[in-house]
Amino acid sequence: ISYTEEELYRPNFHFTPKKAWMNDPNGMFYYNGYYHLYFQYHPDGNVWGPMHWGHATSTDMISWVEQPIAIYPDELGTIFSGSAVVDIGNTSGFGEVSKAAPIVAMYTNHLDKGDDNISQTQSIAYSNDEGKTFAKFENNPVIDANLKDFRDPKVTWDEERNKWVMVLAAGDKIMFYDSNNLKNWNLLSEFQKEKGSKDGVWECPDLFNLPVVGTDESKWVLFVSIGKGGPNGGSATEYFIGDFDGTTFTMDKDFETSRNKENNYWIDFGRDNYAGVSWSNARRKDGSKLIIGWMSNWDYAQKVPTETWRSAMTIAREVKLQKDDNGYKLLFNPVKELANYRSKKYKNENIEVKGDTKIIDSESIDLASVEIKFNISDLVNDGFTFNLTNKLGDTLAFGYNSTDKNFFVDRRKSGKVKFSENFANEISVAKRTSLSTNISGTIILDKTSIELFFNNGETVMTEVFFPNAPFEKLSIEPKAQEFILGSIEMNKLNFN
Ligand code: FRU
Repeated sequence: ISYTEEELYRPNFHFTPKKAWMNDPNGMFYYNGYYHLYFQYHPDGNVWGPMHWGHATSTDMISWVEQPIAIYPDELGTIFSGSAVVDIGNTSGFGEVSKAAPIVAMYTNHLDKGDDNISQTQSIAYSNDEGKTFAKFENNPVIDANLKDFRDPKVTWDEERNKWVMVLAAGDKIMFYDSNNLKNWNLLSEFQKEKGSKDGVWECPDLFNLPVVGTDESKWVLFVSIGKGGPNGGSATEYFIGDFDGTTFTMDKDFETSRNKENNYWIDFGRDNYAGVSWSNARRKDGSKLIIGWMSNWDYAQKVPTETWRSAMTIAREVKLQKDDNGYKLLFNPVKELANYRSKKYKNENIEVKGDTKIIDSESIDLASVEIKFNISDLVNDGFTFNLTNKLGDTLAFGYNSTDKNFFVDRRKSGKVKFSENFANEISVAKRTSLSTNISGTIILDKTSIELFFNNGETVMTEVFFPNAPFEKLSIEPKAQEFILGSIEMNKLNFN
């Protein structure tokens, strides 16, 4: 049998543009019942090129409807990453009487004047039709520091101080600004890269506060993406936890110590979650923030084996802040709206896992549209491997190796892997943080992606893969010693 690219690779439920190249998520905001997602978009090709802001909308962050391109390049440059806010108080004055609140987008104008002469400036555009169309501000750019790596402004409303705060990435530092009207920006402070990862330029920062689960305390979180040097190679997003006094972000001392020791503060340890930032004007009742990332990696994004479109977004995720004996830690889980798509359910308990043990096949459940939850309550053995396989011999393996105390994803034999030497050169691993005998996880499978949320979102791994035929069987095997798979629950996700 041969498959079309659509059949084999177009995700069932992860957002992809109908055609052409996409990278970072941009300008996400919530307003009037809709979640908006803009994205770095090159409508005229399937590799990176002159950037526009593509647009999609959703009522639940799961089912997306692609909309017309929202922002086009202009004489100040192409439209790089940035953010958008709902200017409820009309602080910008862009609003019109008796209309919806204005949406104000802030993005980087990237201007390549040739001969390595590149300028990046910050501009704004506003929308009086709830994010459908944008008009550019006549006095753009609003920030011009005459710098080359100077991009990705992320604006947030600082409730404590009643002002706009913006973070942007300037090569080896994050710069903090504030504003009362989104037009005039004052530089407040800088956060230096020596505090974080050492490779690649810094990109796509985000700053927001989060309550510490179960307490009255709250802390500030700073996200930073790096183009290379991720925990398993290539691009990745790291985070910092600390305090923000309206001027300066200071990393929490204990967090800093354990961060330096453990190198454990990545929002995702898989290779395919980059440039993720949060929705503005959206928070759960418990204070959690909502994020989404680009499900690819600059190491090979432009070479993945799809022609019509390139790349998808991750599933949207809820972010919580937890404090335990090991200090502060973020927890990431799929948004709860995903559960509304559950249809057929299979559940099994106390499975003896001796050799490779079949769990289910695609005749019972579509393994490209499923949410799986498992629990192993008494892990005294040396680890386990889930195998997702097809008749052509492609295998995607993932699991836990207790010798190295690592979760892993192994896509080395998952199908098409040779399009880039960086794609499947190694197994991706993530150190396990809590060492109880209990391991649980949520696994989300689409045609070309796996998202693993271990132990309530303490460790996350997201990876893409390109099998030669759909995967047909899921099995589990012990690394050596037999064990009991306490429970496994599979929910088919139905998007029709
Ligand atoms: C991150 C990034 C951003 C930039 C955009 C350009 O992936 O490099 O820093 O704004 O992509 O498309």
